[in-house]
Order: sequence, then C-alpha cells, then structure tokens
Amino acid sequence: MSKPQKHVFVCSQNRPANHPRGACAHKAGNDVLQEFWQQLQQRNAYDTVSVTYSGCLGPCDQGANVLVYPEGILYGKVTKDDVNEIFAKHLLGDEPVERLRVAPEAW
Ligand code: FES
Repeated sequence: MSKPQKHVFVCSQNRPANHPRGACAHKAGNDVLQEFWQQLQQRNAYDTVSVTYSGCLGPCDQGANVLVYPEGILYGKVTKDDVNEIFAKHLLGDEPVERLRVAPEAW
C-alpha cells in the first residue's frame, strides 16, 4: 500500500439529541462518510486517497464537517450530494471546492 496523497477525515461524532453543540452524526455525517467510501471504491483511488471517520473536529455548528490533509482545508455543511464534487475537484484534481470551505475565523 502506498502512502496516500490526500487524507480525508469525516466527522462522525454523535451526541445526545439535546446537546448544545449538536453533532455531525445528526447532520448526515454518516451518509457523507458512506458516500466517500463508496466513491473511493468506485474510483479505485486507494493508492492516492484515504478516508477515515473521526470524532469532533471543532466547529460543530458548521457540520457535517470534512477535513482534508495535507492542505488542512475544512469543508462545512457537507451533504452526501457534495461528495462527488469534493472527490473529483479536490482529492483528484487538487482544486479546493471554495463554496464549501469553512471560513478561517470559524475554524
Ligand atoms: S461534532 Fe462534528 S465538528 Fe463537532
């Protein structure tokens, strides 16, 4: 297995329904994770991309959150329908998806 060029962390944090911080798991975080894994398989991109679920990434109010390294770019309010664009443009094309980036002051 080669070292991946991009590593995607998908927040899958869960909390009680009335928790003041909320949780990405309640904002389709698990659907986003499943879609990333599906795209990884469909594109057979295992040599270049790694996808990992994670705990809380910080700005819960922006969730569902997705963090991409090595750039350290955080995407917020990500839905399952956004995953194809992130995969094609950023993970394979090296062009961040600006419309989904969390503002620097929020993270
Ligand atoms: S619960 Fe996802 S960023 Fe905090």
